[in-house]
Amino acid sequence: MFSRIATRQFSSSAANAYKVTVLGAAGGIGQPLSLLLKLNHKVTDLALYDLRLGAGVAADISHIPTNSTVKGYGPEEDGLAKALTGADVVVIPAGVPRKPGMTRDDLFNTNASIVRDLAKSVADNAPNAAVAIISNPVNSTVPIVAEVLKSKGVYNPKKLFGVTTLDVLRASRFLSEVAGTDPTQEVVSVVGGHSGITIVPLISQTNHKNLDKETYEALVHRIQFGGDEVVQAKAGAGSATLSMAQAGARFAGAILNGLAGEADVVEPSFVDSPLFKKEGIEFFSSKVTLGTEGVKTVHDLGELTNAEAELVKTAKETLVKNIQKGVDFVKANP
Ligand code: NAI
Repeated sequence: MFSRIATRQFSSSAANAYKVTVLGAAGGIGQPLSLLLKLNHKVTDLALYDLRLGAGVAADISHIPTNSTVKGYGPEEDGLAKALTGADVVVIPAGVPRKPGMTRDDLFNTNASIVRDLAKSVADNAPNAAVAIISNPVNSTVPIVAEVLKSKGVYNPKKLFGVTTLDVLRASRFLSEVAGTDPTQEVVSVVGGHSGITIVPLISQTNHKNLDKETYEALVHRIQFGGDEVVQAKAGAGSATLSMAQAGARFAGAILNGLAGEADVVEPSFVDSPLFKKEGIEFFSSKVTLGTEGVKTVHDLGELTNAEAELVKTAKETLVKNIQKGVDFVKANP
């Protein structure tokens, strides 16, 4: 009797005990993201890996009195494998950020190989983890990770996510600014991909479907290119890190809420999607319900205005090329 109670207590607490690993944890995004994950009570084991300073960031964050153990790792002594072993969720912000004048695609050459190599280690050491990719260009890095996981025989399309949450945050904020409303109450579905014209906010599905044409077009443009405001303001010192950390922590939190079996956990994300596969588009961002196995439902886009349908069409033309670029990279550089 005694041992049965003990077992049941163990299993119920185990249901909310998760190991989260951050790869690139000492970077501009990695540090505040790790801090926010330390504040998430579902995270009981936080593993922070970076080429440099992983141990330092971990020592710092570990002093915060929440219910998780924090460990830092570097490339020495098999640190990457150790950081990944047993992970339920892996969040990847490793890579270089943009400088003024650069598009996300300009980062491809450097970040593609970083993400490919990290994905190989994820396949070997955490094949069942949910993997959330922040490293840009997301439209291509997600297909890169998928190809690596496929080549290792461990690809689970329900557990690979491109993090587009920052576009969702910007959409809420910028819409509230033009509508004069409370940003915390504005929920905007953002679909497509994560770069410039592939970012498509569905304003007609909010309470503000009657914005005049000029306001609407300026709003859509600001959501699509909001990242440039930060890149320019930081003047060569990088791109969004703090708002991105908040976005990454929110998305990782949503994955954990899904894994824990909570109801109605819905966030847009760039996932292996049935929506436009017939048109050769393997990945697409739309609202996704998250569950105990990762993606539970990929939602369709719902009703679109003509303007939105046109934006989606344009997004698809770019996305198909961005996705192919990632696939081709892994084929040419396995
Ligand atoms: P950062 O340069 O400040 O940090 C990157 C970190 O990655 C550094 O600490 C570096 O040591 C580490 N790193 C590099 N190669 C690594 C490897 N092989 N293994 C482990 N760690 C490695 O850059 P920041 O600002 O944190 O941006 C990171 C990435 O996130 C960039 O690619 C950026 O474009 C992207 N990003 C994505 C957003 C999104 O909405 N998905 C928004 C903003 C940035």
